[in-house]
Amino acid sequence: MPKCIIDGKELEFKPGEMVIQVADRNGVEIPRFCYHPALTVVAQCRMCAVEVEKMPKIQTACSLPATDGMIVHTKSAKVKAAQSSVMEFLLINHPLDCPICDEAGECTLQDYSFAYGSPDSRYEEHRRTYIDLDMGPVIKKNMNRCIHCTRCIRFCDEVGGFREMVALKRGNHTEITTVDGKPLETEYAGNLADICPTGSLTLVDFRFKKRSWFLKKANSVCQGCAQGCNIEVHQDNNTVYRHVPRENQDINKWWICDEGRFSFQFVNAETRVTEPVVRGEGKKIEISDWPSAVAEAKSKTKGKALVLVGNDLSNEEIRAIQAFTADKIKGADVFHYGTPGITKASDDKAEDKILRRTSKTSNLHGAEKLGLKGWDGSGKYESAIVFRGGRAAELTDLRKNVSGAIVGVGVFNQPAIDSYDVILPGLTYAEKSGTVVNWQGKEQKFNKAIEPVGQSRAVADVFALWS
Ligand code: SF4
Ligand code: SF4
Ligand code: FES
Repeated sequence: MPKCIIDGKELEFKPGEMVIQVADRNGVEIPRFCYHPALTVVAQCRMCAVEVEKMPKIQTACSLPATDGMIVHTKSAKVKAAQSSVMEFLLINHPLDCPICDEAGECTLQDYSFAYGSPDSRYEEHRRTYIDLDMGPVIKKNMNRCIHCTRCIRFCDEVGGFREMVALKRGNHTEITTVDGKPLETEYAGNLADICPTGSLTLVDFRFKKRSWFLKKANSVCQGCAQGCNIEVHQDNNTVYRHVPRENQDINKWWICDEGRFSFQFVNAETRVTEPVVRGEGKKIEISDWPSAVAEAKSKTKGKALVLVGNDLSNEEIRAIQAFTADKIKGADVFHYGTPGITKASDDKAEDKILRRTSKTSNLHGAEKLGLKGWDGSGKYESAIVFRGGRAAELTDLRKNVSGAIVGVGVFNQPAIDSYDVILPGLTYAEKSGTVVNWQGKEQKFNKAIEPVGQSRAVADVFALWS
Protein backbone atom coordinates (compact mmCIF):
# COMPACT_ATOMS: atom_id res chain seq x y z
CA MET A 1 0.00 0.00 0.00
CA PRO A 2 1.27 3.52 -0.72
CA LYS A 3 2.09 5.73 2.26
CA CYS A 4 2.04 9.43 3.00
CA ILE A 5 3.29 11.32 6.05
CA ILE A 6 0.84 13.51 7.98
CA ASP A 7 2.23 15.47 10.93
CA GLY A 8 5.24 13.16 11.07
CA LYS A 9 3.18 9.92 11.07
CA GLU A 10 3.61 7.49 8.21
CA LEU A 11 0.09 6.47 7.11
CA GLU A 12 -1.10 3.98 4.53
CA PHE A 13 -3.87 4.96 2.11
CA LYS A 14 -5.89 3.44 -0.69
CA PRO A 15 -5.16 4.99 -4.09
CA GLY A 16 -7.77 7.68 -4.77
CA GLU A 17 -8.27 8.66 -1.13
CA MET A 18 -8.14 12.32 -0.24
CA VAL A 19 -5.79 13.58 2.46
CA ILE A 20 -8.78 14.41 4.72
CA GLN A 21 -9.95 10.77 4.53
CA VAL A 22 -6.53 9.43 5.47
CA ALA A 23 -6.38 11.92 8.35
CA ASP A 24 -9.88 11.02 9.57
CA ARG A 25 -9.13 7.31 9.58
CA ASN A 26 -6.03 7.90 11.65
CA GLY A 27 -7.41 10.38 14.17
CA VAL A 28 -5.66 13.48 12.79
CA GLU A 29 -8.07 16.41 13.14
CA ILE A 30 -8.51 18.63 10.12
CA PRO A 31 -11.31 21.21 10.47
CA ARG A 32 -13.92 21.32 7.71
CA PHE A 33 -17.27 22.89 6.88
CA CYS A 34 -18.20 21.91 3.33
CA TYR A 35 -16.74 18.40 3.31
CA HIS A 36 -19.06 15.57 4.31
CA PRO A 37 -18.22 11.94 3.53
CA ALA A 38 -21.67 11.37 2.01
CA LEU A 39 -21.49 14.31 -0.40
CA THR A 40 -19.44 15.28 -3.44
CA VAL A 41 -16.35 17.32 -2.73
CA VAL A 42 -16.67 21.01 -3.61
CA ALA A 43 -13.75 22.52 -1.66
CA GLN A 44 -15.67 25.75 -1.09
CA CYS A 45 -15.04 26.72 2.50
CA ARG A 46 -11.18 26.43 2.47
CA MET A 47 -11.19 25.52 6.16
CA CYS A 48 -9.38 22.21 5.64
CA ALA A 49 -6.14 24.02 4.74
CA VAL A 50 -2.96 21.92 4.93
CA GLU A 51 0.63 22.57 3.96
CA VAL A 52 2.28 20.07 1.63
CA GLU A 53 6.02 19.96 1.17
CA LYS A 54 7.15 20.86 -2.36
CA MET A 55 3.80 22.59 -3.04
CA PRO A 56 4.13 26.34 -2.81
CA LYS A 57 0.52 27.13 -1.87
CA ILE A 58 -1.77 25.95 0.93
CA GLN A 59 -3.95 23.03 -0.22
CA THR A 60 -7.46 21.89 0.68
CA ALA A 61 -7.24 18.43 2.27
CA CYS A 62 -10.76 17.48 1.16
CA SER A 63 -9.90 17.76 -2.52
CA LEU A 64 -6.22 16.75 -2.47
CA PRO A 65 -5.59 13.10 -3.42
CA ALA A 66 -2.95 11.48 -1.21
CA THR A 67 0.14 10.39 -3.14
CA ASP A 68 2.99 8.08 -2.22
CA GLY A 69 5.64 9.92 -0.22
CA MET A 70 3.53 13.09 0.19
CA ILE A 71 4.48 15.03 3.35
CA VAL A 72 1.56 16.96 4.88
CA HIS A 73 1.49 19.38 7.81
CA THR A 74 -1.85 20.20 9.44
CA LYS A 75 -0.61 22.37 12.30
CA SER A 76 2.19 24.52 10.88
CA ALA A 77 2.25 28.30 11.32
CA LYS A 78 1.23 28.73 7.67
CA VAL A 79 -1.78 26.43 8.18
CA LYS A 80 -2.81 28.21 11.38
CA ALA A 81 -2.66 31.59 9.64
CA ALA A 82 -4.82 30.24 6.79
CA GLN A 83 -7.38 28.76 9.20
CA SER A 84 -7.59 32.00 11.15
CA SER A 85 -8.10 34.00 7.94
CA VAL A 86 -10.84 31.66 6.76
CA MET A 87 -12.62 31.97 10.10
CA GLU A 88 -12.40 35.74 9.99
CA PHE A 89 -13.83 35.72 6.47
CA LEU A 90 -16.66 33.30 7.30
CA LEU A 91 -17.66 35.36 10.30
CA ILE A 92 -17.78 38.79 8.69
CA ASN A 93 -21.55 38.65 8.30
CA HIS A 94 -22.28 36.39 11.23
CA PRO A 95 -24.57 38.02 13.82
CA LEU A 96 -22.67 36.43 16.75
CA ASP A 97 -26.00 35.47 18.27
CA CYS A 98 -24.81 32.23 19.89
CA PRO A 99 -26.67 32.98 23.17
CA ILE A 100 -30.02 32.65 21.39
CA CYS A 101 -29.04 30.08 18.74
CA ASP A 102 -30.25 26.48 19.06
CA GLU A 103 -27.03 25.21 17.51
CA ALA A 104 -24.92 26.62 20.35
CA GLY A 105 -23.02 23.92 22.18
CA GLU A 106 -22.92 21.64 19.15
CA CYS A 107 -22.03 24.17 16.45
CA THR A 108 -19.02 23.53 14.25
CA LEU A 109 -18.70 27.25 13.52
CA GLN A 110 -18.66 28.05 17.24
CA ASP A 111 -16.15 25.28 18.02
CA TYR A 112 -13.82 26.24 15.20
CA SER A 113 -14.07 29.91 16.04
CA PHE A 114 -12.77 29.03 19.49
CA ALA A 115 -10.13 26.56 18.27
CA TYR A 116 -8.90 28.20 15.05
CA GLY A 117 -10.28 31.73 14.91
CA SER A 118 -9.04 35.05 16.13
CA PRO A 119 -10.63 36.76 19.16
CA ASP A 120 -10.87 40.04 17.23
CA SER A 121 -12.70 41.10 14.11
CA ARG A 122 -11.52 43.89 11.83
CA TYR A 123 -14.90 44.09 10.12
CA GLU A 124 -16.57 47.48 10.48
CA GLU A 125 -18.97 47.44 7.54
CA HIS A 126 -22.68 46.67 7.79
CA ARG A 127 -23.50 43.01 8.18
CA ARG A 128 -26.10 41.68 5.80
CA THR A 129 -29.32 40.69 7.52
CA TYR A 130 -32.28 38.50 6.65
CA ILE A 131 -35.38 37.61 8.62
CA ASP A 132 -35.89 34.01 9.81
CA LEU A 133 -38.07 31.96 7.48
CA ASP A 134 -39.87 28.64 7.81
CA MET A 135 -38.90 26.23 5.05
CA GLY A 136 -41.94 24.05 5.67
CA PRO A 137 -42.95 22.53 9.01
CA VAL A 138 -39.59 20.94 9.86
CA ILE A 139 -36.82 23.47 9.19
CA LYS A 140 -36.38 27.12 10.13
CA LYS A 141 -33.84 29.12 8.13
CA ASN A 142 -31.65 31.87 9.52
CA MET A 143 -29.54 33.13 6.61
CA ASN A 144 -27.55 35.51 8.81
CA ARG A 145 -25.61 32.53 10.15
CA CYS A 146 -25.01 30.83 6.79
CA ILE A 147 -21.44 30.30 5.54
CA HIS A 148 -22.48 29.03 2.06
CA CYS A 149 -20.94 25.61 2.49
CA THR A 150 -23.74 24.15 0.29
CA ARG A 151 -23.98 20.93 2.27
CA CYS A 152 -27.76 21.42 2.40
CA ILE A 153 -28.02 21.82 -1.37
CA ARG A 154 -25.86 18.77 -2.03
CA PHE A 155 -27.82 16.70 0.51
CA CYS A 156 -31.03 17.47 -1.35
CA ASP A 157 -29.51 16.72 -4.76
CA GLU A 158 -27.41 13.71 -3.93
CA VAL A 159 -28.92 11.90 -0.97
CA GLY A 160 -32.54 12.88 -1.08
CA GLY A 161 -32.73 12.77 -4.85
CA PHE A 162 -34.96 15.83 -4.71
CA ARG A 163 -33.71 19.13 -6.02
CA GLU A 164 -35.31 21.40 -3.47
CA MET A 165 -32.57 23.81 -2.41
CA VAL A 166 -30.49 26.27 -4.40
CA ALA A 167 -28.03 29.15 -3.96
CA LEU A 168 -29.36 32.42 -5.40
CA LYS A 169 -27.21 35.38 -6.43
CA ARG A 170 -23.46 35.58 -5.97
CA GLY A 171 -20.73 36.76 -3.61
CA ASN A 172 -21.86 38.65 -0.53
CA HIS A 173 -25.45 38.48 -1.79
CA THR A 174 -25.54 34.68 -1.99
CA GLU A 175 -28.70 33.31 -0.43
CA ILE A 176 -29.48 29.67 0.25
CA THR A 177 -33.15 28.95 -0.28
CA THR A 178 -35.69 26.46 -1.51
CA VAL A 179 -36.64 26.48 -5.18
CA ASP A 180 -39.08 29.38 -5.64
CA GLY A 181 -39.23 29.72 -1.84
CA LYS A 182 -41.55 26.71 -1.61
CA PRO A 183 -41.76 24.67 1.60
CA LEU A 184 -39.54 21.57 1.68
CA GLU A 185 -41.49 18.49 0.68
CA THR A 186 -38.91 15.83 1.48
CA GLU A 187 -39.60 13.34 4.25
CA TYR A 188 -35.92 13.71 5.27
CA ALA A 189 -35.78 17.45 5.96
CA GLY A 190 -34.53 17.08 9.54
CA ASN A 191 -31.17 15.85 8.24
CA LEU A 192 -30.55 19.36 6.91
CA ALA A 193 -30.37 20.61 10.50
CA ASP A 194 -27.88 17.84 11.30
CA ILE A 195 -25.52 18.48 8.40
CA CYS A 196 -25.67 22.28 8.47
CA PRO A 197 -22.46 23.13 10.36
CA THR A 198 -23.97 26.38 11.67
CA GLY A 199 -27.28 27.47 13.16
CA SER A 200 -28.66 28.47 9.75
CA LEU A 201 -30.96 25.47 9.49
CA THR A 202 -32.55 24.36 12.76
CA LEU A 203 -35.51 22.20 13.68
CA VAL A 204 -38.78 24.06 14.17
CA ASP A 205 -39.80 21.44 16.74
CA PHE A 206 -36.67 21.79 18.91
CA ARG A 207 -36.33 25.55 18.62
CA PHE A 208 -35.85 27.34 21.94
CA LYS A 209 -36.87 24.24 23.93
CA LYS A 210 -33.57 23.15 25.51
CA ARG A 211 -29.90 24.10 25.48
CA SER A 212 -28.02 21.19 23.96
CA TRP A 213 -25.56 20.85 26.85
CA PHE A 214 -28.35 19.91 29.27
CA LEU A 215 -29.34 16.89 27.21
CA LYS A 216 -28.43 13.35 28.33
CA LYS A 217 -28.01 10.82 25.52
CA ALA A 218 -28.87 7.14 25.18
CA ASN A 219 -28.01 4.98 22.19
CA SER A 220 -31.20 3.61 20.72
CA VAL A 221 -32.90 2.23 17.63
CA CYS A 222 -35.75 4.07 15.94
CA GLN A 223 -39.07 2.34 16.45
CA GLY A 224 -40.75 4.10 13.53
CA CYS A 225 -40.46 1.33 10.95
CA ALA A 226 -38.72 -1.94 10.16
CA GLN A 227 -35.52 -0.21 8.96
CA GLY A 228 -34.16 0.06 12.52
CA CYS A 229 -32.22 3.28 12.05
CA ASN A 230 -29.66 3.95 14.76
CA ILE A 231 -30.42 7.00 16.86
CA GLU A 232 -29.58 8.80 20.06
CA VAL A 233 -32.46 9.70 22.34
CA HIS A 234 -31.83 13.06 23.99
CA GLN A 235 -33.61 13.83 27.24
CA ASP A 236 -33.54 16.14 30.23
CA ASN A 237 -35.61 15.90 33.42
CA ASN A 238 -37.23 12.72 32.12
CA THR A 239 -38.60 14.46 29.02
CA VAL A 240 -37.47 13.31 25.59
CA TYR A 241 -36.58 16.33 23.43
CA ARG A 242 -35.30 14.82 20.23
CA HIS A 243 -33.93 11.91 18.23
CA VAL A 244 -30.71 12.40 16.29
CA PRO A 245 -29.18 9.88 13.88
CA ARG A 246 -26.26 7.68 14.89
CA GLU A 247 -24.01 6.62 12.03
CA ASN A 248 -24.41 3.01 10.94
CA GLN A 249 -23.14 2.37 7.43
CA ASP A 250 -25.04 -0.94 7.14
CA ILE A 251 -28.45 0.45 8.04
CA ASN A 252 -29.03 4.20 7.95
CA LYS A 253 -25.63 5.69 7.08
CA TRP A 254 -25.85 9.19 8.67
CA TRP A 255 -29.59 9.78 8.24
CA ILE A 256 -33.07 9.30 9.66
CA CYS A 257 -36.46 10.22 8.22
CA ASP A 258 -38.69 12.89 9.72
CA GLU A 259 -41.29 10.39 10.88
CA GLY A 260 -38.66 8.59 12.96
CA ARG A 261 -37.08 11.84 14.12
CA PHE A 262 -40.32 13.08 15.65
CA SER A 263 -41.70 9.69 16.71
CA PHE A 264 -40.79 10.39 20.36
CA GLN A 265 -43.66 12.78 20.91
CA PHE A 266 -46.07 10.20 22.36
CA VAL A 267 -43.63 9.36 25.19
CA ASN A 268 -44.37 12.48 27.22
CA ALA A 269 -47.74 13.27 25.63
CA GLU A 270 -50.46 14.43 28.03
CA THR A 271 -52.89 12.06 26.32
CA ARG A 272 -50.83 8.96 27.18
CA VAL A 273 -52.48 6.68 29.75
CA THR A 274 -49.92 6.38 32.55
CA GLU A 275 -52.11 5.09 35.39
CA PRO A 276 -54.01 1.79 35.54
CA VAL A 277 -57.66 2.28 34.55
CA VAL A 278 -60.67 -0.04 34.73
CA ARG A 279 -64.22 0.23 33.45
CA GLY A 280 -66.33 0.64 36.56
CA GLU A 281 -69.96 1.22 37.42
CA GLY A 282 -71.99 2.85 34.67
CA LYS A 283 -69.35 1.75 32.13
CA LYS A 284 -67.18 4.71 33.11
CA ILE A 285 -63.40 4.29 32.96
CA GLU A 286 -61.83 5.01 36.36
CA ILE A 287 -58.29 5.29 37.66
CA SER A 288 -57.30 2.30 39.76
CA ASP A 289 -54.34 1.02 41.74
CA TRP A 290 -52.08 -1.61 40.20
CA PRO A 291 -53.08 -4.69 42.28
CA SER A 292 -56.82 -4.01 41.80
CA ALA A 293 -56.44 -3.32 38.08
CA VAL A 294 -54.45 -6.52 37.51
CA ALA A 295 -56.98 -8.53 39.58
CA GLU A 296 -59.76 -7.05 37.44
CA ALA A 297 -57.89 -7.92 34.22
CA LYS A 298 -57.28 -11.45 35.45
CA SER A 299 -60.89 -12.08 36.44
CA LYS A 300 -62.20 -10.72 33.14
CA THR A 301 -59.86 -12.71 30.90
CA LYS A 302 -61.87 -15.87 30.50
CA GLY A 303 -63.26 -18.29 27.93
CA LYS A 304 -61.70 -18.48 24.50
CA ALA A 305 -59.14 -15.67 24.56
CA LEU A 306 -57.38 -13.71 21.85
CA VAL A 307 -53.86 -12.42 22.68
CA LEU A 308 -52.52 -9.76 20.32
CA VAL A 309 -48.83 -8.95 20.66
CA GLY A 310 -47.72 -5.63 19.16
CA ASN A 311 -44.76 -6.11 16.86
CA ASP A 312 -43.54 -2.83 18.31
CA LEU A 313 -42.40 -4.74 21.41
CA SER A 314 -38.89 -6.04 22.00
CA ASN A 315 -37.84 -9.66 21.51
CA GLU A 316 -37.46 -10.00 25.28
CA GLU A 317 -41.02 -8.77 25.89
CA ILE A 318 -42.46 -11.02 23.19
CA ARG A 319 -40.72 -14.06 24.70
CA ALA A 320 -42.05 -13.11 28.15
CA ILE A 321 -45.58 -12.72 26.74
CA GLN A 322 -45.35 -16.11 25.00
CA ALA A 323 -44.26 -17.79 28.25
CA PHE A 324 -46.95 -15.98 30.26
CA THR A 325 -49.70 -16.87 27.81
CA ALA A 326 -48.73 -20.54 27.64
CA ASP A 327 -48.82 -20.68 31.44
CA LYS A 328 -51.74 -18.44 32.40
CA ILE A 329 -54.06 -17.99 29.41
CA LYS A 330 -54.26 -21.58 28.29
CA GLY A 331 -55.84 -22.25 24.90
CA ALA A 332 -55.55 -18.63 23.77
CA ASP A 333 -54.87 -17.75 20.15
CA VAL A 334 -51.71 -15.63 20.07
CA PHE A 335 -50.91 -13.39 17.08
CA HIS A 336 -48.71 -10.39 16.38
CA TYR A 337 -50.10 -7.17 14.89
CA GLY A 338 -48.74 -3.72 14.08
CA THR A 339 -49.30 -1.98 10.75
CA PRO A 340 -52.72 -2.22 9.08
CA GLY A 341 -52.44 -4.35 5.94
CA ILE A 342 -49.09 -5.88 6.92
CA THR A 343 -49.60 -9.25 8.52
CA LYS A 344 -46.35 -10.98 7.61
CA ALA A 345 -42.70 -10.06 7.11
CA SER A 346 -42.89 -10.47 3.34
CA ASP A 347 -45.55 -7.68 3.25
CA ASP A 348 -42.92 -5.21 4.47
CA LYS A 349 -41.41 -3.34 1.51
CA ALA A 350 -39.19 -0.31 0.90
CA GLU A 351 -41.35 2.80 0.98
CA ASP A 352 -38.80 4.98 -0.80
CA LYS A 353 -35.25 4.74 -2.13
CA ILE A 354 -33.63 5.97 1.07
CA LEU A 355 -34.73 4.32 4.32
CA ARG A 356 -38.43 4.10 5.07
CA ARG A 357 -40.24 0.75 5.21
CA THR A 358 -43.94 0.05 4.90
CA SER A 359 -44.05 -1.74 8.26
CA LYS A 360 -44.48 1.12 10.71
CA THR A 361 -43.25 -0.89 13.66
CA SER A 362 -39.71 -1.90 14.57
CA ASN A 363 -39.99 -5.61 15.29
CA LEU A 364 -42.29 -7.26 12.74
CA HIS A 365 -39.38 -9.42 11.60
CA GLY A 366 -38.40 -10.29 15.18
CA ALA A 367 -41.96 -11.30 16.08
CA GLU A 368 -42.09 -13.69 13.14
CA LYS A 369 -38.70 -15.11 14.02
CA LEU A 370 -40.11 -15.88 17.45
CA GLY A 371 -42.83 -17.97 15.82
CA LEU A 372 -45.82 -15.60 15.95
CA LYS A 373 -48.21 -15.34 13.03
CA GLY A 374 -49.84 -12.04 12.05
CA TRP A 375 -53.48 -11.47 12.95
CA ASP A 376 -55.77 -11.16 9.94
CA GLY A 377 -58.64 -9.58 11.86
CA SER A 378 -60.83 -12.69 11.90
CA GLY A 379 -62.20 -14.95 14.65
CA LYS A 380 -64.69 -14.73 17.51
CA TYR A 381 -63.49 -14.65 21.12
CA GLU A 382 -64.86 -14.26 24.61
CA SER A 383 -62.01 -12.04 25.88
CA ALA A 384 -58.81 -10.44 24.63
CA ILE A 385 -55.49 -9.04 25.83
CA VAL A 386 -53.73 -6.53 23.62
CA PHE A 387 -50.03 -5.78 24.23
CA ARG A 388 -48.79 -2.54 22.67
CA GLY A 389 -45.44 -0.71 22.72
CA GLY A 390 -46.69 2.63 21.39
CA ARG A 391 -46.28 2.33 17.59
CA ALA A 392 -48.58 -0.57 16.69
CA ALA A 393 -52.02 0.43 15.41
CA GLU A 394 -54.46 1.42 18.15
CA LEU A 395 -57.08 -1.32 17.87
CA THR A 396 -60.34 0.47 18.49
CA ASP A 397 -62.79 -1.91 16.79
CA LEU A 398 -62.04 -5.19 18.54
CA ARG A 399 -65.57 -5.45 19.90
CA LYS A 400 -66.67 -7.00 16.61
CA ASN A 401 -64.42 -9.98 17.41
CA VAL A 402 -64.64 -10.06 21.19
CA SER A 403 -67.88 -10.53 23.12
CA GLY A 404 -66.37 -10.03 26.61
CA ALA A 405 -63.67 -7.92 28.20
CA ILE A 406 -60.70 -6.39 26.37
CA VAL A 407 -57.54 -5.74 28.39
CA GLY A 408 -54.79 -3.45 27.12
CA VAL A 409 -51.25 -3.84 28.45
CA GLY A 410 -48.73 -1.24 27.34
CA VAL A 411 -48.84 2.19 25.78
CA PHE A 412 -52.27 3.61 24.97
CA ASN A 413 -53.65 7.07 24.39
CA GLN A 414 -56.77 8.55 25.89
CA PRO A 415 -58.91 8.40 22.76
CA ALA A 416 -58.44 4.61 22.77
CA ILE A 417 -59.57 4.22 26.38
CA ASP A 418 -63.19 3.63 25.37
CA SER A 419 -62.18 0.53 23.43
CA TYR A 420 -60.82 -1.26 26.51
CA ASP A 421 -62.16 -2.53 29.82
CA VAL A 422 -58.84 -2.45 31.65
CA ILE A 423 -55.63 -0.68 30.70
CA LEU A 424 -52.38 -1.58 32.45
CA PRO A 425 -49.91 1.15 31.39
CA GLY A 426 -46.61 -0.08 30.00
CA LEU A 427 -43.28 1.26 28.86
CA THR A 428 -42.27 2.97 25.64
CA TYR A 429 -38.94 2.24 23.93
CA ALA A 430 -37.46 5.23 25.82
CA GLU A 431 -38.19 3.72 29.23
CA LYS A 432 -36.72 0.27 28.72
CA SER A 433 -33.89 -1.63 27.04
CA GLY A 434 -34.28 -4.50 24.61
CA THR A 435 -33.57 -5.84 21.15
CA VAL A 436 -35.45 -5.65 17.86
CA VAL A 437 -34.82 -7.25 14.45
CA ASN A 438 -34.89 -5.10 11.33
CA TRP A 439 -35.91 -6.12 7.80
CA GLN A 440 -32.34 -7.24 7.02
CA GLY A 441 -32.49 -9.66 9.96
CA LYS A 442 -30.09 -7.56 12.05
CA GLU A 443 -30.79 -7.77 15.78
CA GLN A 444 -30.06 -4.43 17.46
CA LYS A 445 -30.14 -3.25 21.05
CA PHE A 446 -31.87 -0.08 22.21
CA ASN A 447 -31.19 1.41 25.63
CA LYS A 448 -33.33 2.97 28.30
CA ALA A 449 -33.20 6.77 28.18
CA ILE A 450 -35.69 7.88 30.88
CA GLU A 451 -37.47 6.51 33.95
CA PRO A 452 -41.02 5.20 33.45
CA VAL A 453 -43.55 8.01 33.12
CA GLY A 454 -46.32 8.05 35.76
CA GLN A 455 -47.18 4.58 37.01
CA SER A 456 -46.19 2.76 33.82
CA ARG A 457 -44.60 -0.64 34.39
CA ALA A 458 -42.69 -3.31 32.48
CA VAL A 459 -44.66 -6.35 31.24
CA ALA A 460 -42.60 -8.54 33.60
CA ASP A 461 -43.97 -6.54 36.56
CA VAL A 462 -47.53 -6.98 35.27
CA PHE A 463 -47.02 -10.75 35.02
CA ALA A 464 -45.57 -10.86 38.54
CA LEU A 465 -48.75 -9.22 39.87
CA TRP A 466 -50.97 -11.52 37.77
CA SER A 467 -49.55 -14.71 39.34
S1 SF4 B 1 -27.68 26.74 5.32
FE1 SF4 B 1 -26.12 25.59 6.49
S2 SF4 B 1 -25.67 23.80 5.21
FE2 SF4 B 1 -26.70 25.28 3.91
S3 SF4 B 1 -25.07 26.48 2.96
FE3 SF4 B 1 -25.68 27.60 4.79
S4 SF4 B 1 -24.29 26.89 6.39
FE4 SF4 B 1 -24.15 25.41 4.74
S1 SF4 C 1 -36.66 5.04 8.22
FE1 SF4 C 1 -37.87 4.01 9.77
S2 SF4 C 1 -36.39 3.40 11.34
FE2 SF4 C 1 -35.40 4.96 10.05
S3 SF4 C 1 -35.81 6.91 11.06
FE3 SF4 C 1 -37.46 6.59 9.58
S4 SF4 C 1 -39.09 5.62 10.76
FE4 SF4 C 1 -37.20 5.41 11.94
S1 FES D 1 -13.75 21.15 3.87
FE1 FES D 1 -12.22 21.36 2.35
S2 FES D 1 -12.67 23.23 1.43
FE2 FES D 1 -14.33 22.93 2.81
